[in-house]
Amino acid sequence: MSPASASPLPAGGGGAAALRHVAIIMDGNGRWAKRRLLPRIAGHRAGMEAVRKTIRAAGELGVEALTLYAFSSENWRRPASEIADLMGLLRFYLRREVAELDRNNVRLELIGDWRAFEPDIVADLESARSRLAGNSGLTVALALNYGSQDELARAVRAIAADAQAGRIDPAAITATTIEQRLDTAGLPPLDLVIRTSGEERLSNFLLWQSAYAELLFVDTLWPDFDQAALESAIAAFARRERRYGGR
Ligand code: IPE
Ligand code: IPE
Ligand code: MG
Repeated sequence: MSPASASPLPAGGGGAAALRHVAIIMDGNGRWAKRRLLPRIAGHRAGMEAVRKTIRAAGELGVEALTLYAFSSENWRRPASEIADLMGLLRFYLRREVAELDRNNVRLELIGDWRAFEPDIVADLESARSRLAGNSGLTVALALNYGSQDELARAVRAIAADAQAGRIDPAAITATTIEQRLDTAGLPPLDLVIRTSGEERLSNFLLWQSAYAELLFVDTLWPDFDQAALESAIAAFARRERRYGGR
């Protein structure tokens, strides 16, 4: 067995590659509001508009998949009132936006432990996903109650259960086995992670999937992100040389 055959990573060898999958850590809503002396919810509302613009732009620019970090498994640490505001916005977004997503031929994927949300939100998420399932354009993956460590723990539990039931030989577990158990299993390999607001950390987002992704940190606060910002991120990506350990 060559070492690479157990790896889901592309073969080595450099060069610019096509951009298939972009993920965004949409950060800075609170600071955007604070600068305007507005309540945080105003920042989250403005952030929702940036989501609309970015989805439309990604579709027009021919991106295959766009994963958006909307609520982390650590965001439960925020005050109950802010969590309630965020859940309210998610309800509003799902009800208002699905028709527009459908018109734009967008497919919806969900990653994270989103089934832990309130039952009405879970139902809206499921119904949005099934309404958009037949579309063939941009795939938008919403990361909701998502944390990479939680995702990996869930994958490990599933693999352990398979091993215990004799469905898998522990000695045969490879990186591919694990990858197939992640929430992102149906999505293309991750090419580019963008984080807005100037913070330079991953905050428990797509840790496994970022193994060879390009990382881009921009100072723009999320509510100010738009088509031009996405275009300049894609231009920065195009200037990167990806090697995957090769040469
Ligand atoms: C990102 O903006 C939105 C969520 C995490 C839901 P923040 O609310 O984290 O904004 P800052 O980081 O406080 O500016
Ligand atoms: C990451 O932003 C989560 C989302 C954008 C949904 P946070 O604002 O929660 O991250 P930290 O706490 O600054 O690391
Ligand atoms: Mg933040």
